[in-house]
Amino acid sequence: MDGFLDIFWSVCAAVGTLYILWVAIQLLSGLWGGIFAYILVPLGLGGGLVDLRVYGPWAAVTGASEGIGRGYALELARRGLNVVLMSRSREKLEKVAREIRETHGRDALIVPVDFTRGPAVYETLRETLHQLDIGLLVNNVGLSHKYAQYFLELDMQRARDIIELNCQAMVHMTHLLLPRMVDRGRGAIINISSYSSAHPQPLLGLYSSTKKLVNFFSEALSEEYSRRGILVQTVIPHFVSTEMTKIRRNIFVPTGADYSKSAVGTIGIQGTTYGCLPHAIVCSLTNLTPKFIITRLAFAVLSYARSRYLRLASKK
Ligand SMILES: NC(=O)c1ccc[n+]([C@@H]2O[C@H](COP(=O)([O-])OP(=O)(O)OC[C@H]3O[C@@H](n4cnc5c(N)ncnc54)[C@H](OP(=O)(O)O)[C@@H]3O)[C@@H](O)[C@H]2O)c1
Repeated sequence: MDGFLDIFWSVCAAVGTLYILWVAIQLLSGLWGGIFAYILVPLGLGGGLVDLRVYGPWAAVTGASEGIGRGYALELARRGLNVVLMSRSREKLEKVAREIRETHGRDALIVPVDFTRGPAVYETLRETLHQLDIGLLVNNVGLSHKYAQYFLELDMQRARDIIELNCQAMVHMTHLLLPRMVDRGRGAIINISSYSSAHPQPLLGLYSSTKKLVNFFSEALSEEYSRRGILVQTVIPHFVSTEMTKIRRNIFVPTGADYSKSAVGTIGIQGTTYGCLPHAIVCSLTNLTPKFIITRLAFAVLSYARSRYLRLASKK
C-alpha cells in the first residue's frame, strides 16, 4: 500500500511540476512576445515596424467612421496607405477622409454601405473595390448586444444584425478581396475579434460566440493562405473606449485611436495579437484562471452591468 501511495504522490508531484513549468513557459513567452511587439519594434529594434506598402497602395477598412475602425484608417494612412472607408454614415466618413487627406497627404475613398442589407451589398462593393489595388483589408465592423441581457431578451432582428456584421461581413469582404491578393501573391487581412471570444460570456452569449467564429475562421485562413503570400492576423482587443462600450478611458482601456496605433504596429509581427501592452497583460493574466471561474465571474460582472443599464433606462 505504502509503495502505491509513494508512486501516486510522485506522479502528482511530477504532474504539478510539469503544469507549473508549462504556466511559466506560457508567461515568459507571452512576456517576451509583448516586450518585442509593443516596446522593441516601435523603437525600431528587431527589424522595426513592417513597411505596410509592401501589401499594396490601398487599404480597406469596414466600420471606419468611428472607434477602432477610424483609428485603423488614420494609422494606416499615417503609415503610407490610401484608404477605402466603409460604414453607413456618409457625413462621418467624409470627416475621416478629410483628416486622412489633410493630415497624412494620402488618398481616401468613402463608400457608404449598410452591411446588414445582405449579399446584394457585396455585388455593389465589387464594382468599386475591384478598380483599386487593395492590399490590406481590415474586417472591423461589428455589433454587440444593446446591453448585457438574457438570451430570451435579445431581439431577433438585433441577433441577425450581430451575426451579419460580426461574421457575414468578414466572410464576404474576404471573399471579395482575397482572390486578387492571391493573384498578386501579396496581401494582408486583419480580422478584429474580441477577448470575449476567449471564454463564453453569459448575457453576451451571441456576441462572444460570433467572435469565436472570427478567431477560428482567421486562424484557418492564415494556415491556408500564408504560403501564397497572404498574412492573416487575428486581433483580440479587451475593452476599448468607443461608442460600443461607452467605457471611459483609463490605463487598461485605451481610446480607439491609441489602441489602433499600437495594433497596426503588430501587423506582420504577431499572427494573433491583443493589440496593445495593457490588453496583453490583462488577457494573459486572465488566461491563467480556470474557465469555470472566469465564466461565473463574467456572469456576476455582466449581471451588475445589466441591472445598472436597466435602472438608468427606467429613469429616462
Ligand atoms: N470597443 C471595444 O471594447 C471592443 C472590444 C473588443 C472587440 N471590439 C470589436 O472592434 C470592432 C470595432 O468596435 P468599436 O468599439 O470601434 O465599435 P463602434 O465604435 O460602435 O464603431 C462601429 C463602426 O461600425 C460602423 N457600423 C455600425 N453598423 C454598421 C452597419 N450596419 N453597416 C456598416 N457599418 C456599420 C459604425 O459606423 P456607422 O454608424 O457610420 O455605420 C462605426 O464606424 C468590432 O468588431 C467590435 O466587436 C471592440
